Amino acid sequence: MKKKLDKIAKNTNSFLLKFLKNQKKTDLIKPIKYSLFPGGKKIRSKIIIDIGKIFKVNYSQLIQVGAAVECIHAYSLIHDDLPCMDNDNMRRGKLSTHRKFGESTAILAGNSLLTLAFEILSSKNLNINEKSKVELIKKISECSGHSGIAGGQYSDLNFEKKKIPLHKIINMQIEKTGKLFSFCCMASLIIKNKNKYLLKFDKIGSDIGLLFQIADDIIDYKGNSKQAGKKTKKDQKKGKATLIKLLGYKNTIKFGNKLKMSIFKKLNMFGDKSKDLKETINFILERTK
Ligand code: IPE
Ligand code: IPE
Ligand code: MG
Ligand code: MG
Ligand code: MG
Repeated sequence: MKKKLDKIAKNTNSFLLKFLKNQKKTDLIKPIKYSLFPGGKKIRSKIIIDIGKIFKVNYSQLIQVGAAVECIHAYSLIHDDLPCMDNDNMRRGKLSTHRKFGESTAILAGNSLLTLAFEILSSKNLNINEKSKVELIKKISECSGHSGIAGGQYSDLNFEKKKIPLHKIINMQIEKTGKLFSFCCMASLIIKNKNKYLLKFDKIGSDIGLLFQIADDIIDYKGNSKQAGKKTKKDQKKGKATLIKLLGYKNTIKFGNKLKMSIFKKLNMFGDKSKDLKETINFILERTK
């Protein structure tokens, strides 16, 4: 699994580096590169590649779509770490972007990373039909805005230090994290025009994203800061609404395992073709970073 992730990370980073090289040299390039490279695990790109394999989509196209997702993800992390949000000093084993460059620069680098995603998807060099491109841009926009990342982040902050029922926590986590995974799960279907599977993979994506956020909350609760590359044991202090807070650690592990099995069940119809995706899902729950 690590080898596969490393290959995807290498291909994604070299695509992004080249893409930036062809753009105007500006003062924001430095904080943008700082936030992108070497970057994180590239788990979202891995999901795109895994599902692309099921539907036989060209690898290089998938890397480009994944690069767009990783830009949006990087933007969301820069803003998530800001003092007005989670106020975190460490990200990916180094100073968070605002700690390194200042708050205003971090906000603007984040904004630029968000729009960079749309530049990548609308680029002539992405060799897919125009209709699919528009659909990809529409979906990634929905998944990032007020009904996706931004809306979920709003609820995450709004729920701090309050007693929040299970369904609202789940909904918040699906918005802030799950929606981008939904996009990753739908990308290949959009490229290949396989509309009949769209809703199914939308749901699989939000399930995987929810599982991913549960695992992230478990890492915060039990994990090691050095290994995770970010400060741990902060959610409780901030009063974050998590499943761990509501159900306790043991029940959250149980919830995660049950969720994983229900995702596997939905993938059974693809037989052996879903092997890579299942491996990624196992990794999501077992990871320590
Ligand atoms: C962390 O995401 C933020 C969440 C959505 C929980 P990742 O764990 O994918 O971060 P990187 O990209 O590997 O740093
Ligand atoms: C972040 O969730 C989700 C985003 C959409 C950025 P967290 O706030 O739990 O992520 P970490 O733990 O800081 O990486
Ligand atoms: Mg947060
Ligand atoms: Mg955070
Ligand atoms: Mg977290």
